[in-house]
Amino acid sequence: MSEGILLAPVARGTLLPAAERLARLDEALPRIRAVLDGETDAVALEATLACLLWETLVQTSWCGFYRRVDERTLAVGPYHGTMGCLRIDFARGVCGAAARTAEIQLVPDVALFPGHIACDDATRSELVLPLVIRGRVEAVLDLDSIHLDAFTRDEAQRLATLLADAFASARF
Ligand code: SME
Repeated sequence: MSEGILLAPVARGTLLPAAERLARLDEALPRIRAVLDGETDAVALEATLACLLWETLVQTSWCGFYRRVDERTLAVGPYHGTMGCLRIDFARGVCGAAARTAEIQLVPDVALFPGHIACDDATRSELVLPLVIRGRVEAVLDLDSIHLDAFTRDEAQRLATLLADAFASARF
């Protein structure tokens, strides 16, 4: 049986203090990079990242990917958590904003985000990162939490670097 990346067990849903979250992420990152090293299949990368980031980011209630399937539509990809919406138009929600603008969306309180999609009513905050490959948004990494203010700029920056490196040679 695989033991994942062997981080200290923390109860699912716990919102650790920001400094502890960052330390946990920094501990996980080299292990995640080692696991992904050499893989170029986009689904294999997405599925493994959904698994390992779910283990790392214990504040998440949804952790995974939406994939671009045409010029303005995302379809759900590999994830862990509560059931997600199957399709999201680029015009809608936090994921749509990330896909449309190709910019990181850090939303400390989804109630204040116009057009937020409530796939899960319990979601209170989100971090969505666009996956921009050779100038085109191919997917987004969606992280949701039942806690307000569950993600920081530092976490976003670490994850953006990880995604850029992991998917640099990926085939979609
Ligand atoms: N985070 C989303 C919706 C997707 S689900 O909650 C899994 C959004 O508002 O874009």
